[in-house]
Amino acid sequence: MKLLYYTLVLYFSVVACSTQKTVAPAPPKAKTFSNGAVITAHPLASAIGVDILKKGGNAVDAAVAVQFALAVVYPNAGNIGGGGFMVYRAHNGEVAALDFRETAPSWASRDMYLDRDGNPITELSLYGQLAAGVPGSVAGMVEAHKKYGSRPWLQLLTPAIKLAEQGFAITAMQANEFNEHEKRFKALNPNGAAIIQAKAWKKDDLFVQKELAHTLHRIAEQGREGFYNGETADFIVAEMKRGNGLITHEDLKQYKAIWRQPIVGAYKDYKIISMPPPSSGGIAVMTLLQSVEKYPLAKWGFQADSTIRVMVEAERRVYADRASYLGDPDFYSVPTAALLDKAYNQERMSTIDFNKATPSAAIKARSIPGYESEQTTHFNIVDKDGNAVAITTTINGSYGSCVWVDGAGFLLNNEMDDFSVKPGSPNMYGLLGGKANAIEGGKRMLSAMSPTIIEQNGQLKMVVGTPGGSTIITSIFQAILNVLEFGMDAQQSVTAARFHHQWYPDRIDVENEAISPTVRQNLEKDGYPIFKRPRIGRMENIIRLPNGKLQTGADPRGDDFAEGY
Ligand code: DON
Repeated sequence: MKLLYYTLVLYFSVVACSTQKTVAPAPPKAKTFSNGAVITAHPLASAIGVDILKKGGNAVDAAVAVQFALAVVYPNAGNIGGGGFMVYRAHNGEVAALDFRETAPSWASRDMYLDRDGNPITELSLYGQLAAGVPGSVAGMVEAHKKYGSRPWLQLLTPAIKLAEQGFAITAMQANEFNEHEKRFKALNPNGAAIIQAKAWKKDDLFVQKELAHTLHRIAEQGREGFYNGETADFIVAEMKRGNGLITHEDLKQYKAIWRQPIVGAYKDYKIISMPPPSSGGIAVMTLLQSVEKYPLAKWGFQADSTIRVMVEAERRVYADRASYLGDPDFYSVPTAALLDKAYNQERMSTIDFNKATPSAAIKARSIPGYESEQTTHFNIVDKDGNAVAITTTINGSYGSCVWVDGAGFLLNNEMDDFSVKPGSPNMYGLLGGKANAIEGGKRMLSAMSPTIIEQNGQLKMVVGTPGGSTIITSIFQAILNVLEFGMDAQQSVTAARFHHQWYPDRIDVENEAISPTVRQNLEKDGYPIFKRPRIGRMENIIRLPNGKLQTGADPRGDDFAEGY
């Protein structure tokens, strides 16, 4: 029963995350821009980012404007009520990683989502006020702007405020999504919300968000204080009281975005720069790349039989480690160096049998001395000087907890479900976890978000990221190999059909178009169950070409749009 529940939750969240759109028969072509490029999940947000670049703002200025714009035009994932990660590479090679992940409220505790018999009550960590972590996005944008921004804060929020105040015409895809979620929105927001209206939404309807405009005004005028204190904070705490939520004024005051050392590693002669814990993304992507580096993938070819076997077996092993060793580094000492031991990761692949799947049951997390054994969105920006920003930001499921903060007009996340609610119990993405990712007050829940920047010979090469819950890591892994091994351009690298393995469930998830029928048959014969599912992720990729131009690829699975000048 529980398995069925999770399969359904996973199915619907993935449908929501990837927002079904029939991939156009003629595959979209990569675009190129000479000065700057922005790719986001919504054309209006991309246009706002480019406008800031054209007016002389840098990549971080544009990122701040885009983050707030997405909170207005892409409410199923763009947010001020969620959190995220930024990976940054300046034109001079300086790198940085900003963690604005949500934290568990201080009253949160390990067993808070278990019933008296110790079984998870899944609804609680997924919907309603109790599912929400303390939001980090506003603090994140304030920090990023303080360190790297060059334009006035107020100017960067103005386009988002205008869109919220005056409204914008929704796309067909958005109208469908709004209508699909109507029941839940009504159930969780008895006082109403801008997204709830008497008749069904249709394409080009104007979506006006007056309360959100006021909240954005307060943030524009008061910065951090406009969200974590005063009126907005009062609205959040009042919303918590309505539904047994835990976030207090003190939690909001205490919230901090944190600068962390990015994960930096080598794949052949490329330098990979990605997000460290509390994301598992950087370590997992790097470990996957190390695991496959010695195999002749380019010679075997894209989604060839051997290529898939090697990638899947690497994924199986890496996700086993993820479940045991990754969590918030401020609460759990993550063995980063041991996990990134290249020799170990390569040696571990020697147990692969090219004629037979390794059962997941035979794979355990490695032993490290001293240790017991969809909705998200991504955007990329490169400015005229070559500064690059990759941000993945999330409220977790589509429309997060589905709770709009009454009076403040924004959605709260359901990020608490990213914690391991109980060892051995899968979360909405089927991911397992244990002590490292157990709930504790003030702790950040483990993430898979992997905003990644690649450098070659000291020059920017590629900026990539995607939503997709547990599939984020394997999607990034594929995009990187698509470019570095299989010679794809930016657009092909994100359009290409994807597959995914995460240790448990022990199966390969595939998009309809992924993996040829013959290879699928061979894999099934050798013990790799194939599970078909709807679209995986919504990937964005910017490649800097040898002539310095920027080539863009926006995922055709959604409304995603590349813009530049
Ligand atoms: O942080 C994470 O790993 C998840 N909360 C991401 C959720 C996600 O990508 C949903 N979108 N499709």
